[in-house]
Amino acid sequence: MRPFGEPALDVRDVQGNILRGYGFAHAAYVWLHVADEAAGRAWVKAIIPRVTTAETWHGDKPETTLNVAVTYAGLEALGVSQGLLDDMPEEFSAGMAARADDLRDAGQDRPEHWEPGFGTGEASILVTVNARHEPALDAAVDDLTGEVDGEKISVLHVERAALLDGSREHFGFSDGFAQPAVAGDGNIAKPGDGSPEADGRWDESPLGEFILGYEDEDQQVPQAPRGPLGRNATFMVYRKLRQDVAAFRRALRERAANLGLDEEQLAAKIMGRWRDGTPVALAPGPDGHEPYLEPERINDFRYEDDPEGMRCPLGAHVRRVNPRDALGWHSTRSRRHRMIRRGMPYGPPAPDGDADDGEDRGLVFIAFCSSIRRQFEIVQAQWCADGNIFGLGEDKDWVLLADDRPNAKMTIQGHPPRFVVGQPRMVSVRAGEYLLVPSIAGLRELSR
Ligand code: HEM
Repeated sequence: MRPFGEPALDVRDVQGNILRGYGFAHAAYVWLHVADEAAGRAWVKAIIPRVTTAETWHGDKPETTLNVAVTYAGLEALGVSQGLLDDMPEEFSAGMAARADDLRDAGQDRPEHWEPGFGTGEASILVTVNARHEPALDAAVDDLTGEVDGEKISVLHVERAALLDGSREHFGFSDGFAQPAVAGDGNIAKPGDGSPEADGRWDESPLGEFILGYEDEDQQVPQAPRGPLGRNATFMVYRKLRQDVAAFRRALRERAANLGLDEEQLAAKIMGRWRDGTPVALAPGPDGHEPYLEPERINDFRYEDDPEGMRCPLGAHVRRVNPRDALGWHSTRSRRHRMIRRGMPYGPPAPDGDADDGEDRGLVFIAFCSSIRRQFEIVQAQWCADGNIFGLGEDKDWVLLADDRPNAKMTIQGHPPRFVVGQPRMVSVRAGEYLLVPSIAGLRELSR
């Protein structure tokens, strides 16, 4: 029998940071363009010994980690056979840019406004370096970029990211702690991780929701090519989201006074968590926010006793992106749409106040899942860019999506309800790609 806490899969074959976060403070996303198949394969072969796997570290953590993901265009550039490519899920083959309509990306979020090199088929390989400190990151990035010749393989883009104080994202909210509990990943789930079931229980997601080659919620093995490319791998969503902190602060200030709330209360209702992470479902305010005293239970909440959103608004960000039991039948209707998030903020922290300092800052949003369409795309397109499933008509996630319709609003349910009117642009998509994170055996296959 497998000892408690030991993963059910071969962790030497699975890349790290998927099922268990590294917890490092710095990251760089190094994008490569492969112009020559043989050179690309040789590069993959040479990098394999440096790839960090999901094995547990005994003793000190390494200074840096390295992981490799490949776009569909990258698989083509590496000469993967048409037979294997044909077995890839449609949305991965198309890529994020081609899925803009399905994702309901509009206006400034459309791929034609993205940073150069993204959504064009040029991005082949993403090397993610995580590091404990900046000098180690600099050295690893210099090594990587110095090793390519600039012609057969060239560096398309390097994105640097780093945690902000208190693991907050740029709008000031504590982030990154709500993750699905996964059966057989070797982690010990805390109360509230996973999906809510009857009798107060929380259920783990099957491995196949996040790792290819295993059964998912429907006892199906997710679509992927046969052989090493389709086992112990996962799909990755990379989406660079610019955050206009000044606009967010102005929007809060202007609306809070009209609504009879203070800015912190309004911010909490919009996000569904107070800035320290306390769930609004447990501490609804406006009168009663007390700091949450049990960090171990920061995810231990449901929406079953708040079906009308009187505590946590129906359209709050965290309630939209993981409605838990809010859609009925415990978690039946939400558990097939979970994702593992490993994003990190980029750009400097914003100075106090709401004047625009012109700096580029935001979130490198990263999600892992075994079906980009069923997991990421449904959450983005149907739960964030639309409100129908929650009975909110066409109302969109108030933080994530600009909405220039004259009646754009977010409703804070209550007696009487409050309407946060007008939805300015606070987040913009700047780049995006869908990737495959192959197993070590899959990388070997790509190198041959
Ligand atoms: C700049 C953009 C974004 C910001 C500022 C943001 C902010 C946050 C914050 C503060 C939390 C609560 C902390 C936590 O639960 O770990 C959260 C949770 C979450 N966000 Fe976002 N987010 C952004 C974009 C997105 C996008 C694009 C998606 C997916 C389409 C997403 C999906 C999630 C999910 C799944 C959770 C966990 C909810 C739960 O399990 O209760 N977020 N986000």
